[in-house]
Amino acid sequence: MSEQAFAAAPNSPAIIHPGVRKASFTVEPVATCLGAEIGNIDLRVPLEDDQYLALRAALLKHKVLFFRDQDISAAQQVALARRFGDLEVHPVFPHHPGHPELVILGGDNKQAARENIFHTDVSWRKLPSMGSLLRCVECPPVGGDTLWVNMAAAYSGLPAGVRERLAGLQAVHDILPAFGSRMTAEQREARRQEFPPATHPVVRTHPETGEQILYVNEAFTTHMSNYLEQHESQYRFGFDFRIEEMDLLHYLFRQASAPEYQVRLRWRANTIAFWDNRSTQHYAVQDYFPARRCMLRATIIGDAPF
Ligand code: SIN
Repeated sequence: MSEQAFAAAPNSPAIIHPGVRKASFTVEPVATCLGAEIGNIDLRVPLEDDQYLALRAALLKHKVLFFRDQDISAAQQVALARRFGDLEVHPVFPHHPGHPELVILGGDNKQAARENIFHTDVSWRKLPSMGSLLRCVECPPVGGDTLWVNMAAAYSGLPAGVRERLAGLQAVHDILPAFGSRMTAEQREARRQEFPPATHPVVRTHPETGEQILYVNEAFTTHMSNYLEQHESQYRFGFDFRIEEMDLLHYLFRQASAPEYQVRLRWRANTIAFWDNRSTQHYAVQDYFPARRCMLRATIIGDAPF
């Protein structure tokens, strides 16, 4: 695909002019649990230090930020995301021809997209993502929304007895169950070497806010690594524990599908969503096949969950 294909959509109204870049931006919550729309900001212009700090604070508070009518180039998107940390290059998704840090997501009349499962980006890495910045290049006439979930709220909404059961548990996250079917046997073997399964706490602590977050997801989490050690006395012998472990894991996965913890975005071309991958999960609705949806995502590297 040529670089031209990712040029900003023509005729999209630029709501802000470069001259107003120093004006403070507006923050409008759009759902009860998470999500805010940021207005009065021009993301084509490099962020001033105070804007950067205020956006980072807004991200921590609202967990996903939406920006409308941001007619930015791929290079500007990379520069904006890089302000928040180093960017990864995804080992499986196709990349923008000029910017390997931008993955191309979406579907068309040949291939339906497969991001319609609740997940947090690249949790199979030892250092999973801190955040992702996604720009809509082209959207279908209807459909193709994305949902985000507040996983701190999902954790605190669990019954106290379940929260107690989770203390000290670790879970394994693996790239292959979700992406392996797109690979040859040789590629799978190479990826297995490069990305051995990563183990993270089932409940992680947000490194900036201190929130407790439910950190298992249906796309990448395969099992818990120490369930038996934590709950040994309850089981007779052998692998009795396995059913309860998997029941618990599936129960935890289901928390992400509670609408009370969610916000849903209707995209337009040049809408940008910027989310905190440590405290949220997301789901891209695949209801638009065979229409085309084209998105570019920059993924910011995070730190080891604890
Ligand atoms: C993703 O990061 O999983 C993609 C989300 C989307 O395409 O809306």
